[in-house]
Formats: sequence, structure tokens, C-alpha cells
Amino acid sequence: MDELRGKVVLVTGASRGMGLAITRTLGSAGARLIVVSRHLQDLRRAAARVPGVEMTFPADVTRPRDVARLFVAVRRRFRGLDVLVNNAGVFTYKPFPRTTEADWRRNIETNLTSLFLMTRAALPLLARRHGHLVNILSISSREAFANCSAYTASKFGALGLTRVLREELRPLGVRVTAILPGSTNTRLKDAFDFPVRGSDLIQPEDVAAVVLGALTRPPRTMVEEIILMPSRGKL
Ligand SMILES: NC(=O)c1ccc[n+]([C@@H]2O[C@H](COP(=O)([O-])OP(=O)(O)OC[C@H]3O[C@@H](n4cnc5c(N)ncnc54)[C@H](OP(=O)(O)O)[C@@H]3O)[C@@H](O)[C@H]2O)c1
Repeated sequence: MDELRGKVVLVTGASRGMGLAITRTLGSAGARLIVVSRHLQDLRRAAARVPGVEMTFPADVTRPRDVARLFVAVRRRFRGLDVLVNNAGVFTYKPFPRTTEADWRRNIETNLTSLFLMTRAALPLLARRHGHLVNILSISSREAFANCSAYTASKFGALGLTRVLREELRPLGVRVTAILPGSTNTRLKDAFDFPVRGSDLIQPEDVAAVVLGALTRPPRTMVEEIILMPSRGKL
């Protein structure tokens, strides 16, 4: 499988969980990786275990200034970008009356506004390479679960934005894929207030395999949206 060899791929939230699994899978397939998350030490530790990392860049994807700095560095070093994986995300599990304004803003800014900022900055570089945008969304982009109001609002919004982008970027030859996983065995599941058995969930490398599959379809086809759920069903 050589489709990804030499391709420049940026993954946000790459220090752990799904982002780390995605970088491992794409790096093993020959991609040249740019990895991004907020905490440099965690990011460096993760990058040391991944083949193909060429740039380790600490940035908060909710901050316009960080995003601008990141893309100055990417443009200077790589000139273009083949794939952007918007994966960084947060999750709040609380009944609506206990959801604070800070919870609300954190979810909206990290899970939705970051897609606006990152995609807007990446677009000229992606268009130059007829690239591919992959947004890691959630089953909560389509279905409502109790105690997830801020997260669900952000992920529904993110799916709407992704669908509009797909139509607007089609004429530029940029493909847009949304991945909607159900509960996955990462640190994010610690937010639940009930016991969860990690082995019953999707594993991060299962999501990474789906991302790889979407990226390696021939340019004439586009994987638009994939729902990946645990075989046992919803939590
Ligand atoms: N786990 C699930 O059950 C599940 C299900 C469906 C969808 N998802 C989605 O999958 C994606 C990845 O989640 P995960 O489960 O892998 O979570 P995770 O294990 O908590 O990892 C989140 C990653 O995002 C980074 N991050 C968080 N806020 C950031 C910010 N403002 N700027 C830059 N990086 C930031 C974190 O690093 P730093 O903290 O160092 O920044 C970390 O690398 C999210 O979009 C999530 O909504 C998860």
C-alpha cells in the first residue's frame, strides 16, 4: 500500500488516544507527519514512538495565533499539505443544569471552532495538492445522548460544517471525510460516571484503520461519512 508514501499529513490531538493511533498507522504507511497538541512533553514522548514524524508542534487549536504560527511553519518546511486530520477534541459528561459556561465554551471551541480555524488556514496548502480533509467527529454528531449537551452541540455543528466544506471543496479537488466513532477506549471515556470496560469499546487503532482506508481510496471516489460503532452497541 503505497498511496501515502511521502504524503505530508498533519494530525491534531496526536499525543494520545485516537490521534496517536492515527499517526502510528499513517506513519507506518510512509506518511511524513506533522503532530500537534498542547503539551510539548507529551507530544514528544508520543512522537518518539511513531515512524515518520518530521515536525512536532505544540499548539492550542482553539487559538488563532497558535494556528497561524503552525501554518507559517508548515508552509515554510513543506510548501503544501496532502492531508489534514482534525482530531483534537474534549468531552464533558454532565446533566445540562450542571454544565457550566466554561464547559460549554471548551467543547464548542475545541470540537467546532478549531475546525474552522485549522481548515481555513490549511486550505491554500491542501488545494495546491488536491488534498484530503478528515474530521474525527462522533456518533454524537447524529444522535442525542443524555448528559452530553455541550459535546453534542459541538459535534452536530462540526458535522454540518464538514458537509458544507465537502460541497465547497469538491471543485478544488479536495476530498472531505467525516469519521463518526462510537465509544472508543481512550482517556476521554474517563468522563463517564459509570464503569466502562475498555475491551468492550472500539480501540483507537480500529479508528486509525478506517482513516487509512478512506485516505487510500482512488481519487475518483470519496469516503464521505463512516459510522464506526462497538459491535455490542451503544453504551
Ligand atoms: N473516545 C471516544 O469515545 C470518542 C468517541 C467518538 C469521537 N471521539 C473523538 O475523537 C477525537 C479524539 O479523542 P480521544 O478519545 O482520542 O481523546 P483523548 O485521548 O483525550 O486525546 C485528545 C487529544 O487532543 C489534544 N487536545 C485537546 N485539546 C486540544 C487543544 N485545544 N489543542 C490541541 N490539542 C488538543 C490532547 O492533547 P493535549 O491535552 O496535550 O492538548 C490529546 O492529544 C475527539 O475529537 C473526540 O471527540 C472520541
